[in-house]
Amino acid sequence: MRLGLIGYGTIAQTLLDTMQATGTRADALIVLVRAGTEARVPAGHPAADAVHVVTDAAGLLAHAPDLVVECAGHAAVSAHVPPLLEAGTDVVVVSVGALADAALHDRLTGAATRGGARLILPPGAVGGVDILAALGLGGDLAVTYRGTKPPRAWAGTPAEEVCDLGALTGPATIFTGTAREAATAYPKNANVAATLALAGAGFEATRVELVADPAAPGNLHAFEAVSPLGRVTVSIENTPSGNARTSMTTIYSVLRAIRTHAGLTVI
Ligand SMILES: NC(=O)c1ccc[n+]([C@@H]2O[C@H](COP(=O)([O-])OP(=O)(O)OC[C@H]3O[C@@H](n4cnc5c(N)ncnc54)[C@H](O)[C@@H]3O)[C@@H](O)[C@H]2O)c1
Repeated sequence: MRLGLIGYGTIAQTLLDTMQATGTRADALIVLVRAGTEARVPAGHPAADAVHVVTDAAGLLAHAPDLVVECAGHAAVSAHVPPLLEAGTDVVVVSVGALADAALHDRLTGAATRGGARLILPPGAVGGVDILAALGLGGDLAVTYRGTKPPRAWAGTPAEEVCDLGALTGPATIFTGTAREAATAYPKNANVAATLALAGAGFEATRVELVADPAAPGNLHAFEAVSPLGRVTVSIENTPSGNARTSMTTIYSVLRAIRTHAGLTVI
């Protein structure tokens, strides 16, 4: 497969290492980085036969990727993903929180429709998205998500105005609201809330609670989904990657999306 990557940070680099470790090879790897940072991408990688570096979507398309993985952020989704979809290229968007912006979400689905391409949203740091999506189709679904992180993980967010993060001795709720409000107030922590909202009950009907807990061993995600079809609870304790905000399960979730795209059986 000819694999495109947007961004060359923690997820992209660790993803390539997991590809190598799992025998997932790319015939060509095309990496889109910001102009002026091309030299940060090594000339070769054991997971790919060839590596090309580009700085915009046209450059990516010139190398005819079979699949592109966005792992760069909201601005990169907005700048680069619509033209790729419009040109008929399937794109895995890891910065799912960007889709809380309804106008951007519409642009992406419009481009995918016109291009006949698929916008693929991996579960990322959360799990249970399959059954959540199934319950969503049945209607009358209520979802409550709780995201818990150590106090230091909330530094530089509006949580600092709610409590003294450094003085906490027990769990403190720093936000309650809809998934849409959570994505706006905490954009860097919006991916899981947005993924659950998009899969299940939507941004307004998904309730979010964010918690700072000095006893949290890492990033915890828990949600409850209640519908006439059943009641589901999911609780996940993730191991961080090199970037404390990005868990290893996110990277393996992207690896799974790549393997599924290239595979004959989808599970
Ligand atoms: N879906 C999930 O569960 C989940 C989980 C963790 C992270 N994420 C998201 O994945 C994204 C990447 O995470 P990361 O840990 O690799 O971050 P990172 O900061 O380590 O790497 C991001 C890279 O993208 C580059 N970049 C930013 N804007 C760009 C642009 N316009 N064009 C080209 N390159 C650009 C940056 O220079 C950086 O190298 C973030 O948006 C993060 O919110 C999603």
